[in-house]
Amino acid sequence: MNRVLLAALAASTAGAAGIIDLSDATWTLTGNNSDISIPGKVPSQVHLDLLASQVIDDPYYGLNDFDQRWVALANWTYTAPISGLSTEGDITTYLLFNGLDTFADIRLCSQDVASTNNQFRQYFFDVTDILSSCDTESPELQVAFGSAPTIVDNIANQPGQETWPYPVEIAFEFPNRQFMRKEQSDFGWDWGPAFAPAGIWQKAWVLQLGQGELYVRNSLLDLYREGQLNNLIPNQTANWVLNASVDVIGTVPEGVGLKFKIVNLETNMEAGSGSLVNITNHGDVITGSAVLQADDYKLWWPTGLGPQSLYNITIDVVSESGDVITSVTKRTGFRTIVLNMNPVSDEEIAQGIAPGNHWHFEINGQPFFAKGSNFIPPDTFWPRVTPAKIRQLFNSAIAANQNLIRVWSSGAYAPDFMYDLADEMGILLWSEFQYGDALYPVDAEFLENSRQEAVYQVRRVNHHPSLALWAGGNELELIILYLEPYLTPEEYSRYLGEFETLFLDTLVPAVYGNSRSISYILSSSTNGYLSIDFNNPMPLVPRYNNVTAGSIYGDTDHYNYDPSQAFNLSSYPVGRFADEFGFQSMPSINSWRQAVAEEDLTFNSSTIMLRNHHYPAGSLDTSNFANSSKGMGEMTIAAQMYYPTPSKTDPIANFSAWCHTTQIFQADFYKSQLQFYRAGSGRPEHQLGSLYWQLEDIWQAPTWAGIEYDGRWKMLHYTAKDIYQSVIVAPQYNPTTGILEIYAVSDLWDEVNGKASLGWVGWDGTPVDVKAAGSDLGEVDFTIGPLNTTLLATLNITELTSSGSLNAADVVFVANLTASGKPPNTEATKTFAHTNYFTPTPLAAATLVDPGLVITYDSETDEFVVSAEKGTSIWTWVSLEDADADEVIVAFNENGFLLKKGEEKRIKYNIISDSGKVAGWENRVGVGSIWDNTLP
Ligand SMILES: *[C@@H]1O[C@H](CO)[C@@H](O)[C@H](O)[C@H]1NC(C)=O
Ligand SMILES: *[C@@H]1O[C@H](CO)[C@@H](O)[C@H](O)[C@H]1NC(C)=O
Ligand SMILES: *[C@@H]1O[C@H](CO)[C@@H](O)[C@H](O)[C@H]1NC(C)=O
Ligand SMILES: *[C@@H]1O[C@H](CO)[C@@H](O)[C@H](O)[C@H]1NC(C)=O
Ligand SMILES: *[C@@H]1O[C@H](CO)[C@@H](O)[C@H](O)[C@H]1NC(C)=O
Ligand SMILES: *[C@@H]1O[C@H](CO)[C@@H](O)[C@H](O)[C@H]1NC(C)=O
Repeated sequence: MNRVLLAALAASTAGAAGIIDLSDATWTLTGNNSDISIPGKVPSQVHLDLLASQVIDDPYYGLNDFDQRWVALANWTYTAPISGLSTEGDITTYLLFNGLDTFADIRLCSQDVASTNNQFRQYFFDVTDILSSCDTESPELQVAFGSAPTIVDNIANQPGQETWPYPVEIAFEFPNRQFMRKEQSDFGWDWGPAFAPAGIWQKAWVLQLGQGELYVRNSLLDLYREGQLNNLIPNQTANWVLNASVDVIGTVPEGVGLKFKIVNLETNMEAGSGSLVNITNHGDVITGSAVLQADDYKLWWPTGLGPQSLYNITIDVVSESGDVITSVTKRTGFRTIVLNMNPVSDEEIAQGIAPGNHWHFEINGQPFFAKGSNFIPPDTFWPRVTPAKIRQLFNSAIAANQNLIRVWSSGAYAPDFMYDLADEMGILLWSEFQYGDALYPVDAEFLENSRQEAVYQVRRVNHHPSLALWAGGNELELIILYLEPYLTPEEYSRYLGEFETLFLDTLVPAVYGNSRSISYILSSSTNGYLSIDFNNPMPLVPRYNNVTAGSIYGDTDHYNYDPSQAFNLSSYPVGRFADEFGFQSMPSINSWRQAVAEEDLTFNSSTIMLRNHHYPAGSLDTSNFANSSKGMGEMTIAAQMYYPTPSKTDPIANFSAWCHTTQIFQADFYKSQLQFYRAGSGRPEHQLGSLYWQLEDIWQAPTWAGIEYDGRWKMLHYTAKDIYQSVIVAPQYNPTTGILEIYAVSDLWDEVNGKASLGWVGWDGTPVDVKAAGSDLGEVDFTIGPLNTTLLATLNITELTSSGSLNAADVVFVANLTASGKPPNTEATKTFAHTNYFTPTPLAAATLVDPGLVITYDSETDEFVVSAEKGTSIWTWVSLEDADADEVIVAFNENGFLLKKGEEKRIKYNIISDSGKVAGWENRVGVGSIWDNTLP
């Protein structure tokens, strides 16, 4: 292309701003109370830059969580000369920051620009005047970060400042996190370290705009059905309304209009265009709408429920003479998603649903069972979280049959690329404002700061079809309602007032004022509302504890660290939806080796104990064993209570086996709850969702995660995958009555027909013929209705064992199900198969025998073939032996399964990651089972 053409092109691109990407500037990072001066980066954080310059070693190694606190307690300044600035007249120059973490003083050319205090807001500043008085061509930009832990302590110590006692405020390592709009888990959480990072953590630019030029800094697309209102069930045959709104830097002139163009990304064909009407122009934001024909657009569905049809929508800001002044394109999809919290109707009560209110999601008018987990920050240091990392996590979630992930608050708002991947891959993201386990200040400055943060975030992500919900925060309503009996009426009404000022009065208008397509709840784990009426200035009236006995409301949050209750179904909450539940396990030895020296690889070494942050309630950052031993003790007790526990002579092998056994308990406990919640779809609660705590790890430590920091699957992830299949067989045992009920469960939207074979088998592999009274066995035919369950059989275990018909220690009950049904939005019938089992004693008391496991690699089919030649194998575990940290990481299609004597299983796999040094790894894949714990 020649110069003349380039110049002509540039001139025709109206609204083109001069943009200097501050990632390209030469940054220096200096410490204010040290002589450190090193290269810095944008986006980055101080710890990452110190690590890159080898001033500190890997923050995740050993006890650096504690040893590197000096970094968080110091002030740090990023400095860079800005070159390439235009000095022409009539140009306005701005600084634009998409994210500053957190307490920042910005100076340009030694003059103050602004101070900021919110990690989650976008900031821009007009610096034209400062530059005009600056006598250098490359003025120096300085962004100085104060120590967040120090600053919030100072805020908390201000005279008259309100602080809150435990457990209104749950503090972890550094206290007073509620005084900052910064990632709350940066101050520690029970699964993570406390580094309190600082830095220019997102992209930043210098913008130079000529007269009339505009820069789009944010935009909103809202696609909803005509007449749709937040939280209410939309009309699925109504036309779509496109509401579009563009936030600009510069001033939108009077008289401009908006045009839209829609492109179908499957066909790359235009699917609609026109002008938006009802234009409102506030100078910095211009908004308009159009009606789109319902039939012209294909619906977007989550994974497993239909295709992920996507469209580009371009919004042009056009002058009166028809020139495009500026323009923005966003990829979006047509779907409605609503959190149905309506009262249960009489008709539904007649179908067996308990009275009260619903609490489930409906996609395009269809209720579905939400299967998923909770997402925490996948790294303390967000600048090193790549799209590849998120894709890997989403691939693992989808492989495990998950369709909805809760982006837990108290971390950070998910980046655009994460929503983009979720749109493409079909993962719904329940999103939260970043508040949790605390009350927050309600002074005018804090509320306005929170409002601006919410408005920015709502507008930024609203177009993503993967956006499922906005929640005010984590476990907020729960804490207030839990505390009610312990508080004086004055305290209770003060706390409730503070809660409502932020999560009702401030955040509801931020959501409802910008979107009609998304539902809002005040907090996760909520009893929902008493009423919703858009004729009122505040449409929502929360229900709180105003409940009727016998009625069911809301979503549940359940943690019970008494292992003796782990398999007691009556200890689980009965609700419409489970949004959190779990228990800790150790990561594998592979993960430990990335973070801990070889000599520390024992279960209760000080390094390992101090990486367990599951402290007793109310205790704070003590970094002492008494606190850290809580989590270690619970895992130990659970392992000893239920399984043969390892006592191997080789200390490393013993450590590894202990880590693995804690993973088996974790998986076993979650499996029991997941089955209970899945089977709840056919009980009066008509439960329609379960999200376990937690999808993945932030670092290498004992946590509730199912995926380790490097992407490796724990036993839990495999087990969740198994129980999240659409059609499963689920044993439900009541230890009080001794009755075992076997259910078939389906989350399909059509009827399912199938057969189950039920029977006992000995650990030694011989089938056991138990045909005593109350024992339905053999083949059972069944039908399951949509999102429902069917009881297949009832066994009185107490009677079978006390009558001597069954020797509980010797046998396992096995159920094999095959069924056929139609997956949502497909035509063809599919076959489903599932195997499940029940052990009438804990495995610790069972007469396990050597199952004689054999594994071979079939290079023809690229599969592993596992068989049990001598007995029944339980918690069969296929793994890459002798793997070290930089080796290949493999996810097998099945793992942790039961294998009967003589049975052969063929297992495919996916590579999660590999370092390139993978030759021949297939021949190092081994197999074991819980029986191995009995070996020296
Ligand atoms: C760190 O910054 C704060 C303001 O954010 C200031 O009050 C304090 O004196 C600074 N400390 C040092 C050591 O520079
Ligand atoms: C839903 O929308 C269709 C099409 O606009 C309309 O005919 C119908 O009356 C609407 N239904 C309700 C219940 O409003
Ligand atoms: C424009 O505003 C009018 C009057 O409020 C309303 O009836 C109409 O539905 C709006 N059109 C669109 C496309 O929003
Ligand atoms: C869709 O929009 C994105 C920008 O958001 C752009 O990169 C892509 O090329 C567009 N695709 C088509 C087919 O227009
Ligand atoms: C579930 O199936 C049972 C048995 O067919 C039926 O009585 C019940 O109404 C179904 N539940 C719902 C919510 O449809
Ligand atoms: C409880 O709810 C009922 C409606 O179900 C309402 O009439 C009553 O005022 C509520 N009580 C309180 C204390 O909010």
